[in-house]
Amino acid sequence: MSRGVIAAYAELLPVDDHTPRLSLGEGGTPCVESRVIGPRLGLGSLHLKLEGLNPTGSFKDRGMVVAVARALQAGATTLVCASTGNTSASAAAYGARFGLRTAVVVPHGRVASGKLLQAQVHGATVVAVDGGFDAALRIVRELATRPDVALVNSVNPFRLEGQKTAAFEVVDDLGDAPDVLAIPVGNAGNITAYWRGFREYHGLGRCSHLPRMLGAQASGAAPLVRGRVVEHPYTVATAIRIGAPASWQGAVDARDESEGLIDAVDDSEILAAQWRLAQEEGVFCEPASAASVALLEKCVVSGAVAPGTHAVCVITGSGLKDPDAMSGRLTEPVTVTASAAEVAAALGL
Ligand code: F0G
Repeated sequence: MSRGVIAAYAELLPVDDHTPRLSLGEGGTPCVESRVIGPRLGLGSLHLKLEGLNPTGSFKDRGMVVAVARALQAGATTLVCASTGNTSASAAAYGARFGLRTAVVVPHGRVASGKLLQAQVHGATVVAVDGGFDAALRIVRELATRPDVALVNSVNPFRLEGQKTAAFEVVDDLGDAPDVLAIPVGNAGNITAYWRGFREYHGLGRCSHLPRMLGAQASGAAPLVRGRVVEHPYTVATAIRIGAPASWQGAVDARDESEGLIDAVDDSEILAAQWRLAQEEGVFCEPASAASVALLEKCVVSGAVAPGTHAVCVITGSGLKDPDAMSGRLTEPVTVTASAAEVAAALGL
């Protein structure tokens, strides 16, 4: 069982003796070796960092726990965020557990059903705006000027501090940094946080080298690839449907300092990678998460990643959050009479 990221990494986090030691058991997620995809690509190894196993089903919990602990320490009573879904689910859960009111602004009609359900079931007040995530983030930035209100998007520096613990865990689990780390990029906080985590660990001598960072955007929402804001981003991977990432510079620095790259993958490639992860690895992730695998595959084909490379893909969120993304592939189960003979016939046993 995870002690939570604050207890596990307190000395490397911005917490002091007065910071409450909160936890919902976040962090400590498995980094499992791929059995099919990695060998097929000719990689030296491929590990999947299963961040969907965090308490609310995404990596957001790592940063949320630190942001909420510091918000409580500062006397805040309300958490506010804009979200494509996962941040709001996480804020709502930590808000519920630690006695804070949570208010959430989401883009209307663009949040996966499971994520909206999570925010509501944890008691958050949810308002949908007629616009995208970028508009929602602009609005909450305006609302969060009151001292009793804590903005818990990744523009809150404590969020990225908490999220960098995932890079620590990758190194702790594998014994060193991988050669490359592939990660989906939306608002660009997580790639920024991982890069910070790897650099800090490297500075402490805990890993012998730094990984090349491979950032994956969806083709219809790829401002960092195009080098300009995308006004009307679109992708089936709603979690990363973002046209003006807040941590733009952090992502560019991670890319350039690590001699990595940020590239786009098509929705069809994302959905194909999501399906392969489910069918071949037993890992059911949401579409945005599969962008990391789709990009790694693309990089092996293009030669940007050489055979024999040791790679990690960050699988950022659980597939259960977004069942509709799979609907095109699935059919209703056959229904038969409740008899062993009929069931055996239907199952082909
Ligand atoms: N994967 C998932 C499952 C996400 O929910 C997000 C971001 C990302 C990847 C991208 O991470 O923004 O740090 O580059 N979700 C945010 C949200 C925007 O509101 O839940 P990023």
